[in-house]
Amino acid sequence: MKPGKAVPMNYHFTTTKAHFELAGGKVLEIFGAEALNTESTDPFKGNLDPAKFEAVIAEWGAGNIPFVRMEATTNLIGGQPSSMANLREVKAIVARHQIPVVIDASLISENAYFIRKREAGYENTSIRDIIREMMSYTEICYLSGRKSCNVRGGLIATNDIRHFEAIRP
Ligand SMILES: Cc1ncc(COP(=O)(O)O)c(C=O)c1O
Repeated sequence: MKPGKAVPMNYHFTTTKAHFELAGGKVLEIFGAEALNTESTDPFKGNLDPAKFEAVIAEWGAGNIPFVRMEATTNLIGGQPSSMANLREVKAIVARHQIPVVIDASLISENAYFIRKREAGYENTSIRDIIREMMSYTEICYLSGRKSCNVRGGLIATNDIRHFEAIRP
Protein backbone atom coordinates (compact mmCIF):
# COMPACT_ATOMS: atom_id res chain seq x y z
CA MET A 1 0.00 0.00 0.00
CA LYS A 2 1.38 3.40 -1.02
CA PRO A 3 0.02 6.97 -0.95
CA GLY A 4 -2.61 7.54 -3.65
CA LYS A 5 -3.46 3.85 -3.99
CA ALA A 6 -6.75 2.18 -3.17
CA VAL A 7 -7.61 -1.34 -2.10
CA PRO A 8 -11.14 -2.61 -2.76
CA MET A 9 -12.37 -5.24 -0.33
CA ASN A 10 -15.55 -6.97 0.82
CA TYR A 11 -15.13 -5.51 4.32
CA HIS A 12 -12.37 -4.04 6.44
CA PHE A 13 -10.77 -5.31 9.60
CA THR A 14 -9.88 -2.56 12.10
CA THR A 15 -6.09 -2.90 12.27
CA THR A 16 -5.83 -3.74 8.57
CA LYS A 17 -7.69 -0.56 7.67
CA ALA A 18 -5.58 1.48 10.09
CA HIS A 19 -2.32 0.22 8.57
CA PHE A 20 -3.51 0.77 5.00
CA GLU A 21 -4.50 4.34 5.85
CA LEU A 22 -1.30 5.02 7.83
CA ALA A 23 0.56 4.03 4.65
CA GLY A 24 -1.41 6.71 2.79
CA GLY A 25 -3.83 4.46 0.94
CA LYS A 26 -7.59 4.27 0.76
CA VAL A 27 -9.87 1.42 1.76
CA LEU A 28 -12.88 0.89 -0.52
CA GLU A 29 -15.57 -1.38 0.90
CA ILE A 30 -17.66 -2.76 -1.94
CA PHE A 31 -19.97 -5.25 -0.29
CA GLY A 32 -23.35 -6.26 -1.68
CA ALA A 33 -26.76 -4.74 -0.93
CA GLU A 34 -27.67 -7.32 1.74
CA ALA A 35 -24.36 -7.31 3.63
CA LEU A 36 -25.39 -4.97 6.45
CA ASN A 37 -29.01 -6.10 6.66
CA THR A 38 -29.19 -8.18 9.83
CA GLU A 39 -32.67 -9.47 8.88
CA SER A 40 -31.46 -10.84 5.56
CA THR A 41 -31.11 -14.59 5.05
CA ASP A 42 -28.79 -14.12 2.06
CA PRO A 43 -26.31 -17.04 2.45
CA PHE A 44 -23.26 -15.07 1.28
CA LYS A 45 -23.38 -11.57 2.72
CA GLY A 46 -19.57 -11.48 2.65
CA ASN A 47 -19.51 -11.35 -1.17
CA LEU A 48 -17.71 -8.54 -2.95
CA ASP A 49 -20.03 -6.74 -5.38
CA PRO A 50 -18.62 -7.39 -8.88
CA ALA A 51 -20.40 -4.40 -10.48
CA LYS A 52 -19.00 -2.05 -7.83
CA PHE A 53 -15.59 -3.61 -8.37
CA GLU A 54 -15.71 -2.88 -12.11
CA ALA A 55 -16.77 0.69 -11.32
CA VAL A 56 -13.88 1.14 -8.86
CA ILE A 57 -11.37 -0.10 -11.44
CA ALA A 58 -12.82 2.31 -14.02
CA GLU A 59 -12.65 5.20 -11.53
CA TRP A 60 -9.20 4.58 -9.99
CA GLY A 61 -7.44 2.76 -12.83
CA ALA A 62 -5.93 -0.71 -12.36
CA GLY A 63 -2.49 0.86 -11.84
CA ASN A 64 -3.69 2.48 -8.62
CA ILE A 65 -5.12 -0.75 -7.22
CA PRO A 66 -2.20 -2.80 -5.86
CA PHE A 67 -4.50 -5.70 -4.94
CA VAL A 68 -8.06 -6.65 -4.06
CA ARG A 69 -8.59 -7.99 -0.55
CA MET A 70 -11.11 -10.68 0.28
CA GLU A 71 -11.72 -11.37 3.95
CA ALA A 72 -13.02 -14.91 4.38
CA THR A 73 -15.07 -14.75 6.52
CA THR A 74 -15.81 -11.09 7.27
CA ASN A 75 -15.23 -10.70 11.00
CA LEU A 76 -16.84 -7.28 11.45
CA ILE A 77 -20.09 -8.08 9.69
CA GLY A 78 -20.69 -11.04 11.89
CA GLY A 79 -18.58 -13.69 10.22
CA GLN A 80 -20.56 -13.62 6.99
CA PRO A 81 -18.97 -15.78 4.28
CA SER A 82 -18.31 -15.22 0.59
CA SER A 83 -19.11 -17.87 -2.02
CA MET A 84 -16.77 -19.75 -4.33
CA ALA A 85 -18.76 -18.36 -7.27
CA ASN A 86 -18.04 -14.84 -6.03
CA LEU A 87 -14.33 -15.53 -5.66
CA ARG A 88 -14.31 -16.97 -9.19
CA GLU A 89 -16.04 -13.83 -10.44
CA VAL A 90 -13.53 -11.58 -8.66
CA LYS A 91 -10.70 -13.62 -10.19
CA ALA A 92 -12.20 -13.27 -13.68
CA ILE A 93 -12.31 -9.47 -13.26
CA VAL A 94 -8.74 -9.12 -11.92
CA ALA A 95 -7.39 -11.44 -14.60
CA ARG A 96 -8.30 -8.80 -17.19
CA HIS A 97 -6.50 -6.07 -15.20
CA GLN A 98 -3.61 -7.98 -13.62
CA ILE A 99 -4.61 -7.09 -10.07
CA PRO A 100 -3.52 -9.68 -7.47
CA VAL A 101 -6.03 -11.26 -5.11
CA VAL A 102 -5.10 -11.19 -1.42
CA ILE A 103 -7.15 -13.32 0.96
CA ASP A 104 -7.30 -12.68 4.67
CA ALA A 105 -7.69 -16.31 5.66
CA SER A 106 -7.86 -15.82 9.43
CA LEU A 107 -11.35 -17.36 9.48
CA ILE A 108 -11.14 -19.42 6.29
CA SER A 109 -12.18 -22.77 7.75
CA GLU A 110 -15.51 -21.20 8.73
CA ASN A 111 -15.89 -19.77 5.23
CA ALA A 112 -15.16 -23.16 3.69
CA TYR A 113 -17.71 -24.77 6.02
CA PHE A 114 -20.40 -22.32 4.89
CA ILE A 115 -19.57 -23.03 1.23
CA ARG A 116 -20.01 -26.74 1.92
CA LYS A 117 -23.29 -26.13 3.73
CA ARG A 118 -24.78 -23.43 1.50
CA GLU A 119 -23.33 -23.48 -2.01
CA ALA A 120 -24.76 -25.87 -4.57
CA GLY A 121 -22.21 -28.37 -5.82
CA TYR A 122 -20.00 -28.36 -2.71
CA GLU A 123 -22.12 -30.58 -0.42
CA ASN A 124 -19.72 -33.48 -0.81
CA THR A 125 -16.47 -31.55 -1.15
CA SER A 126 -14.07 -31.70 1.79
CA ILE A 127 -13.10 -28.51 3.65
CA ARG A 128 -9.53 -29.18 2.51
CA ASP A 129 -10.53 -29.29 -1.17
CA ILE A 130 -12.73 -26.20 -0.81
CA ILE A 131 -9.80 -24.26 0.68
CA ARG A 132 -7.50 -25.58 -2.06
CA GLU A 133 -9.89 -24.25 -4.70
CA MET A 134 -10.14 -20.89 -2.91
CA MET A 135 -6.34 -20.70 -2.88
CA SER A 136 -6.21 -21.42 -6.62
CA TYR A 137 -7.79 -17.97 -7.16
CA THR A 138 -5.33 -16.25 -4.81
CA GLU A 139 -1.85 -14.80 -5.20
CA ILE A 140 -1.24 -13.94 -1.54
CA CYS A 141 -2.86 -15.44 1.52
CA TYR A 142 -2.25 -14.25 5.06
CA LEU A 143 -3.80 -15.07 8.37
CA SER A 144 -3.79 -14.31 12.04
CA GLY A 145 -3.11 -17.61 13.74
CA ARG A 146 -5.21 -16.57 16.70
CA LYS A 147 -8.50 -17.29 14.92
CA SER A 148 -9.18 -20.61 13.15
CA CYS A 149 -5.71 -21.99 13.95
CA ASN A 150 -5.90 -21.14 17.66
CA VAL A 151 -2.18 -20.32 17.97
CA ARG A 152 -0.10 -17.17 18.31
CA GLY A 153 1.46 -15.48 15.32
CA GLY A 154 0.30 -15.88 11.77
CA LEU A 155 1.28 -16.62 8.19
CA ILE A 156 1.88 -15.01 4.83
CA ALA A 157 2.01 -17.32 1.80
CA THR A 158 2.37 -16.69 -1.91
CA ASN A 159 2.82 -18.82 -5.00
CA ASP A 160 4.49 -15.98 -6.93
CA ILE A 161 8.22 -15.30 -6.58
CA ARG A 162 7.71 -11.59 -7.39
CA HIS A 163 5.42 -11.13 -4.40
CA PHE A 164 7.78 -13.18 -2.27
CA GLU A 165 10.72 -10.91 -3.16
CA ALA A 166 8.60 -7.78 -2.54
CA ILE A 167 7.36 -8.97 0.84
CA ARG A 168 10.64 -10.44 2.11
CA PRO A 169 12.20 -7.17 3.42
C1 LIG B 1 -10.15 -11.42 9.68
C2 LIG B 1 -9.12 -10.90 10.62
N1 LIG B 1 -7.96 -10.40 10.13
C3 LIG B 1 -6.99 -9.95 10.93
C4 LIG B 1 -7.14 -9.93 12.30
C5 LIG B 1 -6.01 -9.40 13.15
O1 LIG B 1 -5.39 -10.41 13.84
P1 LIG B 1 -4.14 -10.09 14.81
O2 LIG B 1 -4.70 -9.35 15.98
O3 LIG B 1 -3.60 -11.44 15.17
O4 LIG B 1 -3.17 -9.28 14.01
C6 LIG B 1 -8.33 -10.42 12.86
C7 LIG B 1 -8.54 -10.39 14.32
O5 LIG B 1 -9.61 -10.61 14.84
C8 LIG B 1 -9.33 -10.92 11.99
O6 LIG B 1 -10.48 -11.41 12.47
